[in-house]
Amino acid sequence: MKTIAVLTSGGDAPGMNAAVRAVVRSGIYNGCKVFGVNRGYRGLIDGDLFEMDLSSVGDIIHRGGTILKSARCLEFKTEEGRAKALNVLKVFGIDGLVVIGGDGSFQGAQKVSEMGFPAIGIPGTIDNDLAYTDYTIGFDTTLNTVIDAISKIRDTSSSHERVSIIEVMGRHCGDIALYSGLAGGAEVIIIPEAEYNEDEICKKLIQSKNRGKKHSIIMLAEGVGGAQELSEKIKEKTGIESRATILGHIQRGGSPSAFDRIIASQMGAKAVELLLEGKSSRVVGIKNNEIIDMDIHEALAIERKLNTDIYKLVDVLSI
Ligand code: F6P
Repeated sequence: MKTIAVLTSGGDAPGMNAAVRAVVRSGIYNGCKVFGVNRGYRGLIDGDLFEMDLSSVGDIIHRGGTILKSARCLEFKTEEGRAKALNVLKVFGIDGLVVIGGDGSFQGAQKVSEMGFPAIGIPGTIDNDLAYTDYTIGFDTTLNTVIDAISKIRDTSSSHERVSIIEVMGRHCGDIALYSGLAGGAEVIIIPEAEYNEDEICKKLIQSKNRGKKHSIIMLAEGVGGAQELSEKIKEKTGIESRATILGHIQRGGSPSAFDRIIASQMGAKAVELLLEGKSSRVVGIKNNEIIDMDIHEALAIERKLNTDIYKLVDVLSI
């Protein structure tokens, strides 16, 4: 293995830069050449690659976003698109590809390895929606951003004795809502993985008010959606004033937390190690506090399960 390419793909996540830095620095440390690909698979198809040196990743470990830029590329989903990308990899003399992204990006890496080209995936997404790993890079930073927002909303919610509905990202995965809800002391969690009953929620809000609570927080995942509508229904059914806040892309920015920088650094180095060992079609992750790697097909086949203990705990702690 002599020449590695690295790209970031899909929604960006804080800590992607730390992972890019780790791939570049550990690659060069081990005698490799490392190329950066701009704009994910789009850049791969377009041949938008450049050689990186030690200083091209200087001063980025603390920066959110990705210096390589990111994109969602439909053309890469076609055979023709992938053939173009593979040709670019050959022309640039690349021997192995590191893909930093979420499940869509991993499906791309899977296809690349099925075409006989060594590819390794690093989980970079705020959603934490990859079941084979306990954490994805970016999730921890996003939780911290969200709980900061919850604390601010709490202040005004309590002054006005309102119900505050806070909609966070996560189309199919409610982990951001669930874990920030636990950490932020929310009363109710509404996520795609669990059924919910509006009347039960309203009953809980009324009981909370009657026992002296000044306000309530509802964490709502984007995949369920309809924050404004829900807010109006709650007002109508309970008589309690309610407001909706959609946090949006603020959740994807910001300086990565220490945890995200640490796992990104470890995972980046592990991806290079795997390529140097001649491995392909693997993803790296963290399980029970250890950096692991796994076959990409196996990893993508693992079904996500809701952490029902946490889900119930939010309910118990918010009586
Ligand atoms: O996958 C990360 C994510 O932030 C999701 O939580 C969200 O649904 C989506 O990306 C938003 O994508 P975009 O920035 O392209 O609108």
